[in-house]
Amino acid sequence: MVRKNKDYYGMEGVLNDGCRKIAVMSGKGGVGKTTISVNLAALSSIKHKVALFDADVDCPNVNGFLGIDQRFSVREGKIVPIDKFGMKVVSFASMQENENDPIIWRGPMLSNAIIEMLKKTEWGDLDYIVIDLPPGTSDAPLTIMQAVKPDGVIVVTSPQKASVIDAEKAVNMAKEMGIPVLGIIENMSGKIFGMGGGEKSAKKLGIEFLGRIELDRTITLSCERGVPFVLGDSEQSKFREIVERII
Ligand SMILES: Nc1ncnc2c1ncn2[C@@H]1O[C@H](COP(=O)(O)OP(=O)(O)OP(=O)(O)O)[C@@H](O)[C@H]1O
Ligand SMILES: [Mg+2]
Repeated sequence: MVRKNKDYYGMEGVLNDGCRKIAVMSGKGGVGKTTISVNLAALSSIKHKVALFDADVDCPNVNGFLGIDQRFSVREGKIVPIDKFGMKVVSFASMQENENDPIIWRGPMLSNAIIEMLKKTEWGDLDYIVIDLPPGTSDAPLTIMQAVKPDGVIVVTSPQKASVIDAEKAVNMAKEMGIPVLGIIENMSGKIFGMGGGEKSAKKLGIEFLGRIELDRTITLSCERGVPFVLGDSEQSKFREIVERII
């Protein structure tokens, strides 16, 4: 694999030095990356200065899960992140006229869009940036790994075999790129999809198992309502433990 030079992407100074960068990835789609990213960022923003960057260019869901329907404003030529639940949110959805307009781009355009959005945003001083990636091991994860060089990635899987195998690809991609893997989260555990696949895989790969989140209707509903479940009434002590381990 070709490695780019240290600052090929011109990212120097885009994020402050103390800012820890955490990317959330998976192999398979629809396993809960955005749900976890949004809740991780929301919960950590209670005590820290946190930004959430939605690196899913063509199907950005972060705004929907946070009840954001605003467009960006621009100050002195820079994009001003949207302030929501105490965090700074930047999603490509804030550039779209209509939320169901398709974005039909080839890989290099996606990659450039991610870099430009990161560089043109006024991030301010941050403790953490959480990056919600689209599924797979292609353009967006590759761009984020090369340009942003996360301090760690979290790999999300559902319990089923197909998802676990794809998650292992994501873990191996991060390893190959020299990015530390903070661990695996098993999401949607329970009677329907089963349980234990994520933990078994973490053991096999010699990485941390960060915990499991049950398949829970209140989590689905919180996404629909646009309020992170960690800020709702439901008892989410398990997720709190997972976040504390990550932090
Ligand atoms: N633990 C859970 N219990 C119930 N519903 C969940 C849970 N986790 C996520 N969901 C729901 O499953 C759907 C998919 O989740 P989400 O969009 O977070 O997945 P994703 O991995 O980000 O998808 P994509 O690969 O398309 O980016 C959403 O409707 C979300 O509300
Ligand atoms: Mg998503």
